[in-house]
Amino acid sequence: MDSLRFGIVGIGNMGGAHAVQLFGARVKGAELTAVCDCREERLKWAEERFAGVSLYRDYEELLDSGEIDAVLIATPHKLHPVIAEKAFGRKLNVLTEKPAGIDTASVARMNQAAAESGTVFGIMYNQRTNQLYRRLHDLVREGALGEIKRFVWIINNWYRTQAYYDSGDWRATWNEEGGGVLLNQCPHNLDIWQWILGMPVRLRAFCKEGHYHRIAVEDDATIYAEYENGASAVFITSTGEYPGTNRMEISGTLGKAVVENGCLKLFLLERDEREICQTSKEGMPQEKVDCQIMEQEEPGGGHLEILQNYTNAVLYGEELIAPGVEGIRGLTLSNAAYLSAWKDEWAELPLNEEEFNAILRKKQESEDAVRRNVRHEELSGEYSERWSVRW
Ligand SMILES: NC(=O)c1ccc[n+]([C@@H]2O[C@H](COP(=O)([O-])OP(=O)(O)OC[C@H]3O[C@@H](n4cnc5c(N)ncnc54)[C@H](O)[C@@H]3O)[C@@H](O)[C@H]2O)c1
Repeated sequence: MDSLRFGIVGIGNMGGAHAVQLFGARVKGAELTAVCDCREERLKWAEERFAGVSLYRDYEELLDSGEIDAVLIATPHKLHPVIAEKAFGRKLNVLTEKPAGIDTASVARMNQAAAESGTVFGIMYNQRTNQLYRRLHDLVREGALGEIKRFVWIINNWYRTQAYYDSGDWRATWNEEGGGVLLNQCPHNLDIWQWILGMPVRLRAFCKEGHYHRIAVEDDATIYAEYENGASAVFITSTGEYPGTNRMEISGTLGKAVVENGCLKLFLLERDEREICQTSKEGMPQEKVDCQIMEQEEPGGGHLEILQNYTNAVLYGEELIAPGVEGIRGLTLSNAAYLSAWKDEWAELPLNEEEFNAILRKKQESEDAVRRNVRHEELSGEYSERWSVRW
């Protein structure tokens, strides 16, 4: 294969922006050959811009068309594993938008289908291309901070208005979106958390539903998680605080790292704190701390870098920045947070998927479908700053 032929399912905000990049030849070795959407106005939008690109109303027809080698899925979340499984069944390569889905059971089935297909499966975790998170990921994995003790991320600069929630009928519903701030805005952050630190063994969460907006799902959440080695993690988010904060702090036995305001600060000890604690004769020693500062010189390639990396992975076997099968991990964190909040108790990992799905189903059945004045927002087809890391 010399060129990867992409078809996009869902050409709304995000899929529309990817389509513009692919059609504009911004991704080497990739071309846009087909798009699919169930809304006529979006097909008309595409027809006016993408000469020669086939238009489909039914994604199964797109998958069967023979016109694509890879499908990029940018529909509402619930459909991601449904469409992906069908694509894998046809031996197509899949790049899905985040989150991987809304429940881990269907995502596990998607992962199984991906493995059986032997094709390339990626997920659009564009924040993994951010320079500072990449550096921190490598430092923690190399043991630069020693054994991790604590992780704290306050990421409440995801401010959204009621107009935002009213901009699409699938948004902020248990039926269509399957969750709120943890499932829409935070999949990137939950992924970065687990990418750097790995998965905890249990968590306790508090999720406030409709706290700041007229929505059924949570717009404020706090998660406290514990790791096998006794380390703890606290994750705080909301879409209702302005101005917000984006501050991550990780402490380990060899020092700490702080990421805030586009800057990574490392505070490194000369010897392990556990050793200091056990051997020092002083009660409160003043240890030498080496401080290193890394400014974010450029934000990383974002969506385009993931598109290019994915294309290179299919064409030349390049290692994926964000393998699709890893999408289940961040989703496990948000599913477990919901289960803990709904039951007002700890959620152990691996997650009890049956119990999660049973409660989610009840919430979906009792959801009031007409509580909001929904109007579809104007879609620009441009990459938006609000999808990048914001400080
Ligand atoms: N990676 C990122 O930074 C990022 C940013 C924004 C959105 N997203 C993700 O992209 C996905 C879409 O979000 P959005 O904001 O573009 O939503 P959107 O509502 O603007 O677009 C979704 C599109 O899918 C279409 N669609 C729905 N059901 C379909 C079906 N059965 N067949 C074909 N088309 C169908 C809709 O008509 C719509 O045009 C979400 O999962 C979201 O989380 C990712």
